[in-house]
Amino acid sequence: MDILTTPPEVRVWVSERRRRAQRIGLVPTMGCLHAGHLSLVRLARQRAEAVVLSLFVNPIQFGPGDNLTGYPRDLQGDQRLCREAGVAALFLPSAEAMYPAGHSTFVEEVWFSRGLCGDRRPGHFKGVTTIVAKLFNLVQPDVAVFGQKDAQQARVIQQMTRDLEFPVEIVLGQTVREADGLAMSSRNKLLNAAERRQALCLSRALDTAARRLAAGERETAALIAAMRQEISGAPLARVDYAEIVDNETFEPVASINRTALALLAVHVGSTRLIDNALLTPQGHGD
Ligand code: PAF
Repeated sequence: MDILTTPPEVRVWVSERRRRAQRIGLVPTMGCLHAGHLSLVRLARQRAEAVVLSLFVNPIQFGPGDNLTGYPRDLQGDQRLCREAGVAALFLPSAEAMYPAGHSTFVEEVWFSRGLCGDRRPGHFKGVTTIVAKLFNLVQPDVAVFGQKDAQQARVIQQMTRDLEFPVEIVLGQTVREADGLAMSSRNKLLNAAERRQALCLSRALDTAARRLAAGERETAALIAAMRQEISGAPLARVDYAEIVDNETFEPVASINRTALALLAVHVGSTRLIDNALLTPQGHGD
């Protein structure tokens, strides 16, 4: 596995792979890799001969309250997992390499970035789209893989890719869960034992909404109340948002008549976790 640390190294590596007519896959990450990331690498490897995994804790997508310095890191473990997963190149840039002094250009998607995490974390998606656009320009991937756990981020990136005509196929990997249902996330490492137990309130709340929908409840106010009720049973948890939106438009819906998406952001102790689930009413396979 090649280790690349600067944009010029990436360009040389990419042109060599192109010379060999290889398809290139990109898996952008912030490191502290887990089975969810590895499932994204597998999807990329199914579609490309050479997979680049970028590992960069992107400072500009963190706001003042977001604890950038506390973001979990495990460089040695990440390198081992990447080798084992068949990653061809690990791109590990420094903040100075990606944002040299005088960097003053940003990429902003303004429609799907509204609401949800966009409201709670001002500037977050602008930071995400800026780094992903830079990675697309550097790596020039044929395919890039992102996790559906970050559903709004995935939608924003799909839109940016379309709007800016990046010739990149965006593939979304399903959320990978621990045996007890907790969505895998690098942030889970920050939970103590009690918080880890109570973090299950997110997946339980989503299951509750799905069960209530299957039992005939289509009003989202009732489904959201049921999710909040489930979370309120976890004293260390505090809801940041609990919403149900249309799966295509990401607009809030009052009643579920076609596939919708339930999204949660919940602080468990001092760690903010997100999770989501599709809600499909019976008889609608869309
Ligand atoms: O989902 C993430 O890990 C990050 O937001 C991403 C896409 C790597 C951009 O920094």
